[in-house]
Amino acid sequence: MNLPVVDVSGIVKSYQMETHQVPVLRAVDLRLESGTFFAVMGASGSGKSTLLNIIGCLDRPDSGSYRLDGIDVLRSSDNELSRLRSRYLGFVFQTFNLISTLTVKENVELPFLYRTEHRDDISQRVDAAIAQVGLSERANHRPFELSGGEMQRVAIARALATDPKLILADEPTGNLDSQMSREIMELFKRLHAQGRTIILVTHDPQIAAYADACATMHDGRFIHDAL
Ligand SMILES: Nc1ncnc2c1ncn2[C@@H]1O[C@H](COP(=O)(O)OP(=O)(O)OP(=O)(O)O)[C@@H](O)[C@H]1O
Ligand SMILES: [Mg+2]
Repeated sequence: MNLPVVDVSGIVKSYQMETHQVPVLRAVDLRLESGTFFAVMGASGSGKSTLLNIIGCLDRPDSGSYRLDGIDVLRSSDNELSRLRSRYLGFVFQTFNLISTLTVKENVELPFLYRTEHRDDISQRVDAAIAQVGLSERANHRPFELSGGEMQRVAIARALATDPKLILADEPTGNLDSQMSREIMELFKRLHAQGRTIILVTHDPQIAAYADACATMHDGRFIHDAL
């Protein structure tokens, strides 16, 4: 059997408030094979982003285990986690998170800032990622010259450029109208068809329907599988 890309088990996370602890994830298990396109649904506050941040090595759980492509994430140091993020993961957020003073190409180059590949090699990979999202003509434009959907495509190119094992997208269509949302989801669908492993967080069932598997979080747990 293939090693799962994501192997999460018994993840527990709570936040310390002034007087008490608020449990957010109570016992989350998730195993995803390479090439899966998985949607996480659930109401606001159900813990979707908290889980995604743990899977994205941006946050640590209180207990449980997590292997990313076989690597024991929770035993890794903060430096190792930064390395894992830059080697293994691509992130797409609701708010695009582009740097407004940089061009499309410079934004997509950002994940390579602390990497040692040859300049020409980086330039080629960045151009290829921009072409993949259909923005080659816009490579020298700045974010304010782009539509919301185009900005999100730049963010997706930035997530793709390093050839990550896993792409994590938290409400990537949350700031887009329905036409642009469909375009972005068609793009994710194409990436999935090319073999990418994707976890998408959304509260919208029509968006989740683009994935090939889906589960809903409620009260810090997955309640059922659908699709
Ligand atoms: N840093 C924090 N400190 C305290 N509580 C937090 C923190 N981050 C999240 N929470 C709480 O944890 C719960 C889950 O938050 P989370 O952001 O994971 O929900 P979500 O499912 O992503 O919601 P949404 O759909 O609104 O994005 C919420 O009740 C939230 O208030
Ligand atoms: Mg959220």
